[in-house]
Amino acid sequence: MARFLIFMVLHSLLLFFISGGSAATFTLTNNCEYTVWPGSLSGAGTVELETTGFALQTGESRSLNAPAKWSGRFWGRTLCSTNSTTGKFTCGTGDCGSGTVECSGFGAAVPATLAEFTLDGSGGMDFYDVSLVDGYNVPMLVVPQGATSPGGNCTATGCLVDLNGVCPSVLKVVLASANGGSESVACKSACDAFGSPQYCCSGAYGNPSTCKPSSYSQFFKNACPRAYSYAYDDASSTFTCYNANYLITFCPSTASEKSAGDDPKAAAALPLINSTMAFLSGDEVSSGDASLSVPRAALLSVSLAVLAASSLLSRPY
Ligand SMILES: *[C@@H]1O[C@H](CO)[C@@H](O)[C@H](O)[C@H]1NC(C)=O
Ligand SMILES: *[C@@H]1O[C@H](CO)[C@@H](O)[C@H](O)[C@H]1NC(C)=O
Ligand SMILES: *[C@@H]1O[C@H](CO)[C@@H](O)[C@H](O)[C@H]1NC(C)=O
Repeated sequence: MARFLIFMVLHSLLLFFISGGSAATFTLTNNCEYTVWPGSLSGAGTVELETTGFALQTGESRSLNAPAKWSGRFWGRTLCSTNSTTGKFTCGTGDCGSGTVECSGFGAAVPATLAEFTLDGSGGMDFYDVSLVDGYNVPMLVVPQGATSPGGNCTATGCLVDLNGVCPSVLKVVLASANGGSESVACKSACDAFGSPQYCCSGAYGNPSTCKPSSYSQFFKNACPRAYSYAYDDASSTFTCYNANYLITFCPSTASEKSAGDDPKAAAALPLINSTMAFLSGDEVSSGDASLSVPRAALLSVSLAVLAASSLLSRPY
């Protein structure tokens, strides 16, 4: 019996070291009032997850296990349907171009909000972020849970506000809606909209000392202070934990943020939501750069959404 126990203990230890002990569970939840089809893409040299694309109805969750050292990204696809003639599955935003619900190694079409992870990276820490570098399509929150040891700035990150209506007109993606009108469905990055090296941080602008925030990246940063707003936004947008699991929520409420036990240290540095709401007043966005002016109706609806969120209604959007 004692021998058997020793064998079991050694066996577990061996498994622990072989696996690195730092696999993670990602739990994706859809709080949006519409269906979201999450997609995932693994980084070079790591396996694809058990599914690379699936539907999440309003209120649904699904958990996925990722092996140790996994790296990759998640995003939400919206306005998806299967063409009855061709049988192809496509999405209005975040489409991965696979023609099926599974993304199978294909990435997201821009613009799309991305949640990015590297498990067990440098120093044994997980690195993660929510990125608007490729634009924005849906609000996302990432909350780490159950980290095995303290350390790292292991806290919630994301972009909690709906930017589609308030998006500067030159960046706005508008699609025809079912009722014959039109609907703002996503917000492009300046790199995507204009393609210039200075916005894309390429060529002569391919390093942190030459590529600086622009008025466009600042629009994203003001609204979502912890999310990446341009390629070299690392210092305020990369987060680290030791061996955590991660909750990823589409259209989070601020109530879910509070219950996540936000780390006060990191929270003090940069809030998840810009509570000054000054960026929604229309004054700043329209001053200086005329192309950044925003329709009043959109401002009003976003202001109302943020007001609702800050008064802790559980379904502000
Ligand atoms: C389905 O695909 C065909 C062929 O590409 C296209 O002409 C048609 O507009 C599509 N239908 C819908 C509803 O998008
Ligand atoms: C979190 O920690 C990482 C690693 O030390 C660091 O690079 C990053 O700038 C920190 N992020 C924030 C938001 O302070
Ligand atoms: C909030 O937005 C205003 C612009 O409206 C900006 O000046 C301020 O720096 C932002 N705060 C944070 C924490 O990003």
